[in-house]
Amino acid sequence: MMQGLIEQFRAALGKEYVLTDDADKVPYLTDWRKRYTGKALAVLLPKTTDEVANIVKLCAAHHVAIVPQGGHTGFCGGATPDNSGNQVILNLKRMNQIRAIDTANQTITLEAGCILQAIQEKAAAQDFLFPLSLGAEGSCMIGGNLATNAGGTNVLRYGNTRDLCLGLEVVTAQGEIWNGIKGLRKDNTGYDLRDLFIGSEGTLGIITAAVMKLYPLPVSQWTTLVATDDIASTIALLTLFQKRATSLLTGFEMMTQESLALNEKHFPQMANPLKGNPPFTVLIELSDHESEEHVRKLLETILEEAFSVNLISDAVIASNLSQANTFWHMREHITLAQAEEGANLKHDITIPLSSLDSFIQNTDSLMRQKYPGVRIINFGHLGDGNLHYNIAPPLGLDPKVFNLSHEKAIHELVYAQVERCQGSISAEHGVGQLKLADLRAHKGPVAHDLMKALKRALDPQNILNPHKVVSI
Ligand code: FAD
Ligand code: MLT
Ligand code: ZN
Repeated sequence: MMQGLIEQFRAALGKEYVLTDDADKVPYLTDWRKRYTGKALAVLLPKTTDEVANIVKLCAAHHVAIVPQGGHTGFCGGATPDNSGNQVILNLKRMNQIRAIDTANQTITLEAGCILQAIQEKAAAQDFLFPLSLGAEGSCMIGGNLATNAGGTNVLRYGNTRDLCLGLEVVTAQGEIWNGIKGLRKDNTGYDLRDLFIGSEGTLGIITAAVMKLYPLPVSQWTTLVATDDIASTIALLTLFQKRATSLLTGFEMMTQESLALNEKHFPQMANPLKGNPPFTVLIELSDHESEEHVRKLLETILEEAFSVNLISDAVIASNLSQANTFWHMREHITLAQAEEGANLKHDITIPLSSLDSFIQNTDSLMRQKYPGVRIINFGHLGDGNLHYNIAPPLGLDPKVFNLSHEKAIHELVYAQVERCQGSISAEHGVGQLKLADLRAHKGPVAHDLMKALKRALDPQNILNPHKVVSI
């Protein structure tokens, strides 16, 4: 029966776009963190929305589950199939056309397989900014960004992927095409289907195209690295920048001493230019549509004020674009340094800024009491209250052995503190399979039941990315 289905896939897509040989499937089966490896009946590479719809209809008729996949850079195993070998991977990379740029409406309409960096470049070529920006931008795709409601480094000024999206085209679990491709900033016509699909991680529909917002390209940007002693002064610094720079503040990223030491260990060229690698290094970016001098002067004035009230102890302003890029690379390399160091336990959490200091102090102290020698690799998008609170085993211990014994208890410890502070256990990375069980407890029974009801209503056969986000 499965061979018959494979033949139907081939008829629908063309033979070369249905991968069934083991060697051909390998690149699609393991997630970026190498945490999950699955098996797949086939990897399907459609080129058009109609082809996606036809594939879904075939899968629905045969009760075959579909795992949508973009750049496969997600951190929660959402795009990795299970081990049954009965699921198909639907990778959208061939759907990479930019359908339109509407300069008057300041929108770009594009297919789900467009790589984020290519979108930024296309927008810049037309003098526009597409503000979504994250470390994986060279390989993640807009469909994946929408499906996970990705965040990144520009959220404090421009919002998450959700805030950047005006319209969607989606193939439903029945293989119908919902054409919601509209570039409207106001549209109160009942339930917001677009928002339902954004962040649903491929469990409610397959996103095939989107209309996204564009913004005027800033004419000047200044980037600085500053040293702070503790979280309280880092938050006070954020407040100062928000007051003085208002919407010109486009980046505020926090990195701890331990994070940057790890960077330097694996990438010596990424050494912290601030003397003595201080307890906290903050990367701040201001963007402006006025002159270079205007924003540079503003930055210097705010830094002087911060020095005068002892919020910061050192600062380096990037003298040119290349140095600014080096500062950003240093920030982005922490993830890569962690990957080099071996398996680690990630917590992608949001805490209200007013509780962040207490969260870190309590959690650090509990963690160190229970797991002496443990390494806490903390960094994040502080401007959004989004902390990447990551745990690496004590030096000398095999990460795999350590994680096997302690992973569950460590997640519980961190998430209990997140609940105490009324935070979220997934700020921007999503749920996937990694946080499936934790989500049930975190959302509470009412919200979790509503999610299940939605899943049942939209995908009664449970063929879209089953057992990711919510199990029915
Ligand atoms: P995939 O990993 O392929 O898929 C992710 C999920 O979306 C899966 O559940 C998949 O089934 C579903 N999906 C994919 N495409 C579609 C579609 N067309 N329709 C329906 N469902 C679909 N994330 C952040 O939020 N902020 C960061 O700062 C950030 N930095 C990162 C840095 C690095 C170095 C790496 C490796 C990852 C980072 N990520 C970050 C995580 C990841 O890049 C994002 O989650 C990204 O949005 C995933 O896009 P993708 O195309 O790789 O999706
Ligand atoms: C980041 O902010 O760099 C990403 O979310 C990656 C990570 O958490 O490691
Ligand atoms: Zn992040």
